[in-house]
Amino acid sequence: MRTKIVAGNWKMNKTLQETVTLINDLKNTVKPDNNVEIIVAPPYVNLVEAVNLLKDLPIKVSAQNMHFADNGAYTGEISAVMLKAIGVRTVILGHSERRAYFNETDEVLQKKAHKAYEKSMTNIFCVGEKLEEREAEKHFDVVKSQLSNTLFQLPMEAYKKIVIAYEPVWAIGTGHTATPEQAQEMHKFIRDTLAKKYGRDLADTVRILYGGSVKPGNAAEIFLKPDVDGGLIGGASLNAEDFNAIVEAAKS
Ligand code: 13P
Repeated sequence: MRTKIVAGNWKMNKTLQETVTLINDLKNTVKPDNNVEIIVAPPYVNLVEAVNLLKDLPIKVSAQNMHFADNGAYTGEISAVMLKAIGVRTVILGHSERRAYFNETDEVLQKKAHKAYEKSMTNIFCVGEKLEEREAEKHFDVVKSQLSNTLFQLPMEAYKKIVIAYEPVWAIGTGHTATPEQAQEMHKFIRDTLAKKYGRDLADTVRILYGGSVKPGNAAEIFLKPDVDGGLIGGASLNAEDFNAIVEAAKS
């Protein structure tokens, strides 16, 4: 039995003051229970405040990225050591926006995934194809190669703290969500690919989240699919009521 996860990726949204407001709204709205793990990922500068505000609640705080080195001459970057020092033990890696706008390659992401493992951080690792890759029916090949070049370089033990997020690029921020069937098909493919590499027992324990235009109105039907273990939510995570509705959808 895999506990579902609903994670909010705030991306580059919310000032410090707005972060305080949204977290207070979440505290008044969201009812955490054992059926769903809840995670929020504010921008770096608001992480300390988020950790502080959520310290008594079972809502985890995640970073949206991190560097693969512990420290050094990497202007503008943040390390796992720094995140852990403020109580952040979860990180989103390989988001398609990082890949597309900041040139993050599988080679760099492999190093980041390795660092997350080394530092015992939960790694929400994103994979997903672009529209032209789906249209050319290359989506399975693309996702398989993203996994082979990165997570599949890690030992079995690392998967205790790995969550995979399938985010088809064409569904992110577009309002064109994948159908529940398209999500299930890819999630099953990812699980079968994991099983071939590491064995069925391990594959059955790994949570695979869907991300891409998940909203209160479509979350439940997507989460009902057997290989969908929750969602990575962008736009709808910026509003407490919408985020709560998605959390509730994951509970049922
Ligand atoms: P949207 O929910 O805004 O489509 O974003 C999805 C996403 O990229 C989450 O990481």
